[in-house]
Amino acid sequence: MVNNSVIELMLKHQSIRKFTQQTIPQALVEQLIQAGQAASSSSFVQVTTVIQVSRPELREKLQTASGNQAYVGSCPLFLVFCADLKRNQQICAARGVDMPTGFTEQALIASIDTAIMAQNVLLAAESAGLGGVYIGGLRNQPELVSETLNLPDQVVALFGMCLGYAAQDPGLKPRLPTKVVLHQEQYQPLAQTELEQYDQLLSAYYTQRTMGKLNTSFSEHIEKTLNKEARPYLLSYLQRQGLMTR
Ligand SMILES: Cc1cc2nc3c(=O)[nH]c(=O)nc-3n(C[C@H](O)[C@H](O)[C@H](O)COP(=O)(O)O)c2cc1C
Repeated sequence: MVNNSVIELMLKHQSIRKFTQQTIPQALVEQLIQAGQAASSSSFVQVTTVIQVSRPELREKLQTASGNQAYVGSCPLFLVFCADLKRNQQICAARGVDMPTGFTEQALIASIDTAIMAQNVLLAAESAGLGGVYIGGLRNQPELVSETLNLPDQVVALFGMCLGYAAQDPGLKPRLPTKVVLHQEQYQPLAQTELEQYDQLLSAYYTQRTMGKLNTSFSEHIEKTLNKEARPYLLSYLQRQGLMTR
């Protein structure tokens, strides 16, 4: 076992949804993005664009697009992480090459790289004393996001990120036991006893966090979250943007 400040910081992660008014210096914003860019990139294609959105009227639209999550409008710093295949298409075009597009693999690479970069940004932000939360809710109304941010084809906003100085301490959300997540040699089905223990742990966490109003177990949470259609309009949206057509 090692005990160092990086791992300590990672284990302290909690999503922050309430922020003080304190602004974040632009030099720090740029440093966070640089830390994000230092992440690995599949075949070094660097297919992420981050849009910093400050104008209140644009924030308002993004808040609406995200299912009216208030912190999207009010947080000190809001970043939108985009999978961007356009830039490389432009680079190819300047060399007289018509970059083939629409491959599912390209969309996966761009999504994976963007998520990896974003987590570096969040971790860097947390190391600088900030807190934040991802906003997948932007995918509720992808067309509104595209229009608000003037996204061209080959660019898709995958998620946002609210950042700022924390005005809350919601507490650590217990994760699945490591042995449920880390399998040795071959895939193992979930053991019921492990699940039951974790269900109890998460239920106790919610009871404490909500002062008795909720006692949701992980099984209940999963059933509630996944037993419905998941943004079924996304495939056609992605295809309209020129992604995942083949
Ligand atoms: C890609 C992604 C999208 C998310 N979208 C939202 C969101 O739209 N709104 C929100 O309040 N939290 C969002 N979250 C935060 C998760 O709810 C949170 O990470 C999870 O409940 C675990 O809690 P913790 O981060 O405090 O440990 C998102 C997280 C990820 C990774």
